[in-house]
Amino acid sequence: MVERREILKGIGVAAAAAATVTAATEEAKAQASVALGPVASPWDPADPKIEGRMNVAPVPDDYFIPGRFAGKTIIVTGSARGMGEVAARRLAKEGANVVGVDILADLGASVIEDIKAQGGNAVFLAGDISEDAVCAAMVKLAVSTYGGLDGALNNAGVMDALNPDEPIDYPNQKDRVMARFDEAGDEYFDRVVKVNVYGTFYSLRHEIRQMIAQNRGGAIVNVASVAGIRGFGGTVPYVTSKHAVQGMTKTAAIDCAAYGIRVNSVGMATTMTPMFDRAYEIIGQRRETSFADTGIGLYKSMSLLQFSDQKKRGSTAAEQVAIMLFLLSQEASNVTGSTYNTDGGFTIF
Ligand SMILES: NC(=O)c1ccc[n+]([C@@H]2O[C@H](COP(=O)([O-])OP(=O)(O)OC[C@H]3O[C@@H](n4cnc5c(N)ncnc54)[C@H](O)[C@@H]3O)[C@@H](O)[C@H]2O)c1
Repeated sequence: MVERREILKGIGVAAAAAATVTAATEEAKAQASVALGPVASPWDPADPKIEGRMNVAPVPDDYFIPGRFAGKTIIVTGSARGMGEVAARRLAKEGANVVGVDILADLGASVIEDIKAQGGNAVFLAGDISEDAVCAAMVKLAVSTYGGLDGALNNAGVMDALNPDEPIDYPNQKDRVMARFDEAGDEYFDRVVKVNVYGTFYSLRHEIRQMIAQNRGGAIVNVASVAGIRGFGGTVPYVTSKHAVQGMTKTAAIDCAAYGIRVNSVGMATTMTPMFDRAYEIIGQRRETSFADTGIGLYKSMSLLQFSDQKKRGSTAAEQVAIMLFLLSQEASNVTGSTYNTDGGFTIF
């Protein structure tokens, strides 16, 4: 009889093999079926042995609730692409006046122009949210253009010290991207903390000042990550920064409660955006070098829903934005200081 320890070890090997999409090789599949036996083969989309199996269908990309934010002015940082872009577009469709902010000036401006061309109300500020003056300017722009501020989605963030559109060239960027703890560079740590921690702090500070001065309440959502709840190997500044976002959310909620301002955060796992593509490009290029570690850092990278999905689908930006907008809306009137684990079950699995 096979020892229980051996089976668990086998499952561990199989799970580690499944931890990245790129690692789902034939060899991993063989290991998995040895480890898991005839009852489950989660890597085989057409496994006839699992009756009734189905995937969770994502909210449609073009879904929106007409009029929900009519007349409300909402800042979206990181509005040029990824989740911020989807949020800016959907908010405008739901009637909001959108103030988009992004360090990618041309792309950011073109998204806002497109929103306007489709009949939405939107303005754009090109800038780096790690600068206090930019965060002051975005609030000022909301007030000067639309007369005040009702909500904010503090979404801009980075995983590394590269410019968001800088081509990935791992061998020449080692000191500025993900690295084992002892090899993490100063520039890498500084930039991620500057954008994700200081940027969120500066954004919140100016937004809250304005909302308190207006005396009409408001709602703020900070974008954290599953990395704000648990550790991830090789990403010390990112994990540090997202834990900080969770802490700032709770503290801001307390300081704002008596002014009718709610502050919440969301923490997603893999979401299919340019940031995700770039992270996998770095990991892929790193594999081509002499880089070697224990592999523990990548042991688990899939959420429960991603793992159970036949195509190993990560979450869509639209799925994330649906919850962000719910938290910004009046439907969430009794929710503040909370962390919404929009992570497909990652943190319970
Ligand atoms: N994609 C994922 O799997 C994932 C998982 C967990 C958390 N998140 C978080 O979600 C948020 C959005 O991520 P995304 O996946 O849409 O990323 P993305 O890189 O596709 O988009 C982020 C946007 O923020 C902008 N930005 C970056 N730094 C900025 C700065 N200093 N000032 C102004 N704008 C800046 C970028 O130019 C870009 O337009 C981030 O905070 C990220 O950490 C993403």
